[in-house]
Amino acid sequence: MGPRCGSSARRTCRRAARRWSTVGASDGSFKRPNGAINGFQTGASSWVASNRGRDEGDADWAKALRSNLDATSTRRAHSAALGFDETEPVNPFTIVNDELSAISARMRQAVTSEVPALATAAEYFFKVGAEGKRMRPTVLLLMASALTDLSSGGADALSGARAASVSIDHAPAHEVPDDTRRRQQRLAEITELIHVASLLHDDVLDSAATRRGLRALNLEVGNKLAILAGDFLLARASVTLASLRNTEVIELLSRVLEHLVTGEVMQMTAKPERLMSFDHYFQKTYFKTASLIANSAKAIVLLGGHDTETASHAYDYGRHLGLAFQFQDDVLDFVGSGSVLGKPTLGDLKEGIATAPVLFAAEEHPSLSALIERRFKHVGDVELANDLVRRSDGIERTKALAREHSALAVKAVEALPAIDCPHALRCRKGLKELAHMAVRSEEHTSELQSLAGSR
Ligand code: FPP
Ligand code: MG
Repeated sequence: MGPRCGSSARRTCRRAARRWSTVGASDGSFKRPNGAINGFQTGASSWVASNRGRDEGDADWAKALRSNLDATSTRRAHSAALGFDETEPVNPFTIVNDELSAISARMRQAVTSEVPALATAAEYFFKVGAEGKRMRPTVLLLMASALTDLSSGGADALSGARAASVSIDHAPAHEVPDDTRRRQQRLAEITELIHVASLLHDDVLDSAATRRGLRALNLEVGNKLAILAGDFLLARASVTLASLRNTEVIELLSRVLEHLVTGEVMQMTAKPERLMSFDHYFQKTYFKTASLIANSAKAIVLLGGHDTETASHAYDYGRHLGLAFQFQDDVLDFVGSGSVLGKPTLGDLKEGIATAPVLFAAEEHPSLSALIERRFKHVGDVELANDLVRRSDGIERTKALAREHSALAVKAVEALPAIDCPHALRCRKGLKELAHMAVRSEEHTSELQSLAGSR
């Protein structure tokens, strides 16, 4: 059983939050500090590092800061020599816009079916205007470009590569793509197909009425067809995935499917005492929100022919970005405006789900434990829980947790191997900007539509 957040276990709860924010595994699994495997791998050293004495930590911190400053000025000088202005703002979406449009057009082809009812259902969220912000493909294309040196091969090769990357790939899903960028684009497509499939299923489970500002598909075509449309998207994703002929990538994305289902079932079926556990909450959050983007980022780097260390930085970026988004989304469920969010506030409490703000608040207000354990089912529970959260520092602590993961995502970008290509550097900046946006509430809702929330 994981640590509980009741009055007798506050320190354990705080430790759990810190541990999960600092421990990272780049192999798709979570690391546990105690060496017990239990479906996750062990990672004693990170745990020890995050729990050392304060003086020792301060000295390390000062050293790290100094070397960071050195690295920053060296990097700035290097970027300037390449003609890339580090201080100029970038819009991550604009950088990949043309390529995203090409991918969207291909996805629209990929989800067609000869069976009219299936085609109507499967195409629903791929129509122009219904695609959402295509957050995952944006991250993945930026990551692919952040590691691609376009400048090698001269100006002709450069414009040729750009033109090729923004042209629509008309090949059928099962056809093996012959160049690296096409393979990477297919991966971005697969990721979005899996994402939309999971949302179709989720909306049936949640009896949702709206999604992406439209009537939810389950309302349009009924639960049975909505589920089958999700299955169909997964089937198309599987065919495309097989066409990549890369067993490691197939394994990574298959693992994501396992995580999505596991996360959802964990949320649905947790025993009362598990609902109080930060470990449970973090695992579920990773499975439901962060695993897809983390493992896809790793996969796109492997498809680019890069080494496993680079792939693990990409994984870390995706994991921290996904967690930062979800924590911020958990905050917005308390403080956001329903109209901006596109969904009612306090939705999590109403669905019986205790997120970080409530778990933190329970440390200050132990009476919350009973409400969490009965999933806020009694009349007045939702209002009382909301009131207690607001009279605690749960929201501030969750924001801090989101910021911590955002900073770790930025660090993962900085750990990528050096590259002498202005476009790659711009893409790295775009990745960092996304990490900053994840924790700025306005963009989180209106600009990004979030990796979590309105998806
Ligand atoms: C949104 O959750 C849902 C997910 C992130 C994943 C749902 C996963 C499944 C239903 C398992 C099946 C998976 C596949 C691949 C078919 P939410 O309800 O917390 O967020 P919302 O507000 O966007 O609905
Ligand atoms: Mg839902």
